[in-house]
Amino acid sequence: MIFSTTDRLVLRQPSAEDIEPLLELNTDPEVMRYIGNGSVGPADRESTAGIVERYRRSWAENDFGMLSVLTREDGRYAGWVTLAVPTFLPQILPAVEIGWRFHRAQWGRGFATEAATPLLAHAFDTVGLDRVVSIRHLDNERSGRVMEKLGLRHTEETTVPSHGGKVAVYAITREEYAARS
Ligand SMILES: CC(C)(COP(=O)(O)OP(=O)(O)OC[C@H]1O[C@@H](n2cnc3c(N)ncnc32)[C@H](O)[C@@H]1OP(=O)(O)O)[C@@H](O)C(=O)NCCC(=O)NCCS
Repeated sequence: MIFSTTDRLVLRQPSAEDIEPLLELNTDPEVMRYIGNGSVGPADRESTAGIVERYRRSWAENDFGMLSVLTREDGRYAGWVTLAVPTFLPQILPAVEIGWRFHRAQWGRGFATEAATPLLAHAFDTVGLDRVVSIRHLDNERSGRVMEKLGLRHTEETTVPSHGGKVAVYAITREEYAARS
């Protein structure tokens, strides 16, 4: 199901067609460098199919989740954007996080920012959230730029309990979002 169309991108709910490109994305060490403890994966089709299924369920249950992003030019899978509960960082809960992951070949074209824009609007206008956060590895400045371009501001640095890595947390409130629009 198509969620949104932007100048250059189509955002749709995940489907079984995404399993192969998602597997490719999650096993690229450069893409995964700043995710979790930096290890790649999952690297098998079954777990990747499980991810797609979980996100499909998330849309049904919460009215938010992962969106696959395709280029309008050639319909290719470029990556994804997501709204999810960051359970890996219990000290900031309750919270909903916006995030992104794109194939390396597509970096630097503004796709993450372009794709996250309608999803952030959805978080406030349709889901009715009061605040959206985003979380990045301290060295992931590229992702930090996307957060800033979307209007999120740095709020704190903290540690992920499961692997001890340091992360920066960004946030935007409903009022701040409304003031920008
Ligand atoms: C993070 C990611 C989604 C960014 O995607 P993208 O489509 O390249 O993002 P955009 O083009 O919208 O913006 C990138 C910004 O980072 C800037 N940038 C590029 N390289 C950079 C670097 N080495 N250091 C700092 N900023 C950098 C760009 O100049 C651009 O900012 P600008 O528009 O002000 O010039 C992409 O790099 C990715 O998928 N990385 C791997 C997965 C990941 O780390 N996800 C985020 C986890 S928090």
